[in-house]
Amino acid sequence: ETKPRLPVIWLHLQECTCCSESFIRSYHPTVGNLLFDNISLDYTETLMAASGFQAEACKEETMKKYWGEYLLMIEGSIPTRDEAYCCVGGKSAMQIVEECAEGAKAIIAWGNCASAGCVQAANPNPTGAKAIHKLIKGKPLMNVQGCPPIADVMTGVIVYMLTYDRMPQLDALGRPKMFYNRRVHDTCYRRANFDAGLFVESFDDENAKRGYCLYKVGCKGPNTYNSCGIIKWNESTSYPIQSGHPCLGCSEAGFWDMSPFYKR
Ligand code: SF4
Ligand code: SF4
Ligand code: F3S
Repeated sequence: ETKPRLPVIWLHLQECTCCSESFIRSYHPTVGNLLFDNISLDYTETLMAASGFQAEACKEETMKKYWGEYLLMIEGSIPTRDEAYCCVGGKSAMQIVEECAEGAKAIIAWGNCASAGCVQAANPNPTGAKAIHKLIKGKPLMNVQGCPPIADVMTGVIVYMLTYDRMPQLDALGRPKMFYNRRVHDTCYRRANFDAGLFVESFDDENAKRGYCLYKVGCKGPNTYNSCGIIKWNESTSYPIQSGHPCLGCSEAGFWDMSPFYKR
């Protein structure tokens, strides 16, 4: 309670903002508790009241005051084909990330855009979109994967860093193991149907109504590491498979090119 709140800079690059949308729906802890009691979100274009010069001044001030101490969070990929594709406050995405990364104690790459390029990097990748870890070296960096990541996973990794003052254990792709060490398939409540050879053959058939396995209509759960089957979404209400939709593999690199999304 006496510890000062951790200063945070949250950048928005080539993205759709749904990682932020996910974040504000966290329940464990609530995003209100986190923002008011634990972190000081000094710069984020989506949630901050300031805009324009005032907003940029907040970022500069935080960097200066907390050099080496602030946490850098990045939502979105970096364009490498032409810097004009993503500029904020007159600076290119690459320039902003390089400047902010230099004084950061650690970097969190939110979602598939920042971790792997996501939709902007889908073939033919017109902007030359690249993940943060491909361009920034020499800083502790974790990839909190998903499109978007699960809200409670996002706040969960922040709480971990606040509690232990270090990065959690990461897998070979830089994802925190505590949330990405099992396949969606391993915790799927439809798994018994998979094992028994009971499959949905086409959307809305009788087997779909019975809740059989979605593998034959395109489910990527067997190749996807995430916590959706355990933590779920919207206060543990549901997740894609529970609403009858195959897993698209949204926490894996290159999922937009893992076509087809659906099979019939
Ligand atoms: Fe949006 Fe997905 Fe990128 Fe997050 S990872 S910003 S949800 S496109
Ligand atoms: Fe595995 Fe997908 Fe079938 Fe679930 S629905 S058991 S994740 S293949
Ligand atoms: Fe994404 Fe598959 Fe979970 S599509 S939300 S990893 S069930």
